Amino acid sequence: MKIVYHESSKTFHLYNDTISYIMLILKNGHLGQLYCGKRIRDREDFSYFLETCTRPMTARVFEDDDTFSLEHIRQEYPVFGTTDFRQPAVEVCQENGSRLSDFQYESHRIESGKPKLPGLPATYTEAEGEAKTLIVTLRDALTGVQVELLYTIFAEGGILARSARLFNNGTEAVRLTRAMSLSLDLPDRDYVWQQLSGCWARECHIHSRRLEPGIQAIGSMRGNSSHEHNPFLVLRRPHTNEHQGEALGLSLIYSGNFRIQAEVDAHDTLRVMAGIDPETFTWKLDPGESFQTPEAVLVYTDKGLNQMSQTFHKLYQRRLARGYWRDKARPILNNNWEATYFDFTEDRLMELAAQAKECGVELFVLDDGWFGERSNDHAGLGDWTANRDRLPNGIAGLADRMEALGMKLGLWFEPEMVNQDSDFYRKHPDWILGAPGRSVSQGRHQYVLDFSRKEVVDAIYEQMAEILREAKLSYIKWDMNRSITECFSRGWPADRQGEVYHRYILGVYDLYERLTSEFPQVLFESCASGGGRFDPGMLYYAPQGWLSDDSDAVERLKIQYGASMCYPISSMGAHVSAAPNHQVYRNTPLHTRANVACFGTFGYELDLNKLTREEMGEVKEQIAFMKKYRHILQFGTFYRLNSPFEGNEAAWMVVSEDKKTAIVGWYRILNDVNGRYTRLRLEGLNPDAAYRNVNGGTVHYGDELMYAGLITTDDSAGQVSAGADHSTDFESRIYILEAEV
Ligand code: DGJ
Repeated sequence: MKIVYHESSKTFHLYNDTISYIMLILKNGHLGQLYCGKRIRDREDFSYFLETCTRPMTARVFEDDDTFSLEHIRQEYPVFGTTDFRQPAVEVCQENGSRLSDFQYESHRIESGKPKLPGLPATYTEAEGEAKTLIVTLRDALTGVQVELLYTIFAEGGILARSARLFNNGTEAVRLTRAMSLSLDLPDRDYVWQQLSGCWARECHIHSRRLEPGIQAIGSMRGNSSHEHNPFLVLRRPHTNEHQGEALGLSLIYSGNFRIQAEVDAHDTLRVMAGIDPETFTWKLDPGESFQTPEAVLVYTDKGLNQMSQTFHKLYQRRLARGYWRDKARPILNNNWEATYFDFTEDRLMELAAQAKECGVELFVLDDGWFGERSNDHAGLGDWTANRDRLPNGIAGLADRMEALGMKLGLWFEPEMVNQDSDFYRKHPDWILGAPGRSVSQGRHQYVLDFSRKEVVDAIYEQMAEILREAKLSYIKWDMNRSITECFSRGWPADRQGEVYHRYILGVYDLYERLTSEFPQVLFESCASGGGRFDPGMLYYAPQGWLSDDSDAVERLKIQYGASMCYPISSMGAHVSAAPNHQVYRNTPLHTRANVACFGTFGYELDLNKLTREEMGEVKEQIAFMKKYRHILQFGTFYRLNSPFEGNEAAWMVVSEDKKTAIVGWYRILNDVNGRYTRLRLEGLNPDAAYRNVNGGTVHYGDELMYAGLITTDDSAGQVSAGADHSTDFESRIYILEAEV
């Protein structure tokens, strides 16, 4: 990987084996964008990439040059109020009301590795030579405000990480009304826009459309990244599919309000932008202060969406997630939520745990309801001490009993929330978000604590840390069950109210940082009513997240398939739950529920005591399978094969790093009769290796399996005689392929 500056042509070229990213200092001093795509060889001068021409109806920057209008020039960090009428990346509001600025190149430096972003999650490096960072400093002479644009190129993969830092080196305060993480102008609009959207229990569905003139955007103004839109976008060429073609993935490492948008202008050029949602953000910068934007990650590939996703998976698994659990196969857990809801006692929990232990489960997770006066969702949030009616020995006592059973204990918290009916609220009624004199809406009967205030975060930290210190806990599930409304902080002055949403998220990150540093061996799982905050920001602190409250196997096919566009399997909380399912009341076979959940962190979300002996036997086998293969399932190279958004059959697979083991998941939603012959063309195998199908005993070479395909035809092709033991709706199979030595 290299970062070169060509003085004679004033061009920067960042490149590795996969990607080239080229910029130019424009003649007005701004930074221009020349190229982002497949690696091209370096040369002294790329300035001819900057196309200009005389166009009618444009305003010129230089009186003697009618070709230089910013409206028609590709830029890196465009500002408001110039000859460019597209959306700007940054807006600096000054005391006289002006929002104009003129950020001109001042200097640049190249650093090895990657600087930390203070207070924010970001990708990182561990060893020498993993990445290089270019920092370009631009300056607005009138205000003295400086922008540093950070570009990190990694040695491997088509990855470029970007962010911006603003410094007020002037003498008067300014207000940022927009500070995006990334702005990228591309020369054409011949892309399909692909987003992950949905709502509670239907997260991460794939939606696509061709780019059209105008602005298309996704975002959140809910205070969290949201169930509605994941902070992730793919721009792919129309012919690109999973296996071939060009695509650009764009992921924002942020958990709060965001915006990702694409603006196509009248001449079909494209401006892509990502960052904090400008609608709900302003930030006052006093002289001497600075502001760091979140990081945005671009991944370029010319080898299809699978390769784009694999690049994100590897990066986020190894250089975004951190800590003790980062590279470790995840414990198989049993969560009591759908088994008991709020109706449990210590003895009841021990009964559940004993049965789970008998099946091979390693971790028992006590969900909502263990604290304060919480017997339903109207009370207790904020009082993080054990409810002694249910847990007479407290959490420490429960943990000891679990330990004696040979089971680890995990615990649920919802640290950012408070119920009106709680001691915490009675003591600190002014610690919630909300404006004096105005009513504050409740969501799930709870208020949002003002995490923009340090004293609030400190108080919650103290309660959580105390429990973690006194009880042997191995896991924390951190939930967040409502959006932010009436966003006003009593802790900040009038001119800083526009900062509260962002400061709130900084408070959340701060609490995560403190807890994960003090309790490094505790596994954190993030959650926000399922996938309301399933984003890369969370992954920095919690290496796994509860992807959706929808635990139905068929619904999960789409949710997990969609999420895999950006997120690794090791990050996706996925559990086997009861049938009929509690969200959609569908009956799916036990094996299908497990066959979907095993492409995730895997666990059970049901009362195992309610299973028949036969089902118990099945569960034991599932757990034994998972223990044997979970490292490959969670950390292997993942390929999407058949999309559940496109047909009745879905399929995906993982391959171990040494290509000796592959595990294929095949799922048919509705049964067929007299159907077609079916095959799956596998991916990523060694063409010369002979693979034994562990369950079927057949042996096929990698080339046969990849080019001719794995035959999946079953009795749905042809007529089945009544009474035969044949497949039904919601059928699925796992194929384990082991290379013979
Ligand atoms: C929402 C979560 O997503 C569920 O798994 C569960 O923890 C409930 N909250 C508990 O209130």
